[in-house]
Amino acid sequence: MKFFIDTADLKEISEAHALGVLDGVTTNPSLMAKSGITGQQNILAHYVKICEMVEGDVSAEVIATDFAGMVREGEMLSELHPNIVVKVPMIADGVKALKYFSGKGIRTNCTLVFSAGQAILAAKAGASMVSPFMGRIDDTNWDGVSLIEQIVGIYGNYGFATEVLAASIRSSLHIVQCAEVGADIVTCPLSSITGLLKHPLTDVGLEKFLADYRKGNPV
Ligand code: G3P
Repeated sequence: MKFFIDTADLKEISEAHALGVLDGVTTNPSLMAKSGITGQQNILAHYVKICEMVEGDVSAEVIATDFAGMVREGEMLSELHPNIVVKVPMIADGVKALKYFSGKGIRTNCTLVFSAGQAILAAKAGASMVSPFMGRIDDTNWDGVSLIEQIVGIYGNYGFATEVLAASIRSSLHIVQCAEVGADIVTCPLSSITGLLKHPLTDVGLEKFLADYRKGNPV
């Protein structure tokens, strides 16, 4: 399972990268705004910075919502760096754009997916990745991980090449649940990745090992 970080914050990207487990980055307009990156030229320059920091896929989202606008923007984004994956929303013109990009060899991530039906459409249109938002599904009192499992099962039935990228991850437990049901990729906040490190028995055990060492090796 690949680990992406879901942020536009360069410090967080650098921290996850330093851990040695980072396979890529996803961003969206909300995350860009949260990091104070505004204005098209600044946003484009920021994508390039991220691509230079991480060896792996970097999702860059189109703002246009019409087919021609998405094609124009997606082609421009894909030319920024070979690792750019064009993020396209799950709307009718988005599906048409996914098909167009697929024909041109431009890699895509279909975002804002909340149902198996939407995931089937994205795969049929040739999306490279599909992003079901599991945390936001949980927020509505449905089970986000069941949706991930359902999409993984359906793609397996037909051999779709589209990778299931579980998004809107809210906890380390979400990451483990995605691994259990076979998600190809998880995109997570830094805290959910570093949260995987934690277990109280690890801390207690390490403290005891060090204390016993110090007893036999006084300074
Ligand atoms: O990758 C999608 C993600 O950024 C959405 O996460 O926490 O805003 O639901 P969230």
